[in-house]
Amino acid sequence: MDNLQKKIVELKKEKKAVILAHNYQIPQIQEIADFLGDSLELARISRKLKERIIVLCGVRFMAETVKILSPEKKVILPVMGAGCPMADMITREDILKEKTAHPGAWVVSYVNTSAEVKAVSDVCCTSSNAVKVVENVPVDKVIFVPDKNLGWWVEKNVPGKKIFSWQGYCLVHEEFSLKDLEESKKLYPEAEVIVHPECRREILERADYVMSTSGMLKRAKESKSTKFIIGTEEGMIYRLKKENPAKEFCSLGTPKVCVNMKKTTLQDVYHSLESEKYNIEIDPVVIEKASLALERMVSYI
Ligand code: 13P
Ligand code: SF4
Repeated sequence: MDNLQKKIVELKKEKKAVILAHNYQIPQIQEIADFLGDSLELARISRKLKERIIVLCGVRFMAETVKILSPEKKVILPVMGAGCPMADMITREDILKEKTAHPGAWVVSYVNTSAEVKAVSDVCCTSSNAVKVVENVPVDKVIFVPDKNLGWWVEKNVPGKKIFSWQGYCLVHEEFSLKDLEESKKLYPEAEVIVHPECRREILERADYVMSTSGMLKRAKESKSTKFIIGTEEGMIYRLKKENPAKEFCSLGTPKVCVNMKKTTLQDVYHSLESEKYNIEIDPVVIEKASLALERMVSYI
């Protein structure tokens, strides 16, 4: 551990704080996190914590989700500008219009959405449980937002339901191309291909496994294979290598970086703990409604 990492760990103890980090965070932050995980794991862990302060190293929708589930806690996002462009591709007003256009359909919103969008949704989902949630909603028509690729994946795996998918996407995962896939497979023909459901449809169709970031970790540990081609943000590859030193991991094509996930530095984490900024604040009415959609997700998986 370097000096700054040690200072953060001490300050964290002093302030009775806990650090949650997403799998895409820079290695130095992954190393000092109390919990590292995918969106669902971070949300679930946050509900069990006793600490007064939660520092969420990730992007804004993740910190908002933690706040919605634990409104009595101080939830800090070290860099206020760390957002998710896909989450910004849909608004509360868009959802209200969709509901009018498709009466009777339930709104299933990916957690990569704002608190306001969650508040007008019937249920939320994450990349690890989207198929299960849509299978279990008590209706046959679903408005799925905002990711068109995850929406397509759900449609393919839940053929009995009509899915009206919003056409948002992740700028990072859209970068993985068929050419990338073909070249990687030529280089490592024996490798298992594991991709995130935010990748383009043509990649999802050809992958061996389509999984959330922590799902990838589980698969890599269980698999007999020793080589893997990974279609997700490069931070995940650091964790996969660290926890599976005897196995080989390479990115599908050149490594892809989510600039928002990389905005948070160790200095930001230290300063945010010291000044207890930036504190996530959400209207209590929005919290109440959004928490229903999140709690419903948990009851469906
Ligand atoms: P996971 O929940 O699979 O970690 O995905 C979050 C995300 O933003 C992927 O781009
Ligand atoms: Fe959002 Fe994509 Fe970054 Fe995930 S990788 S936080 S979906 S922009």
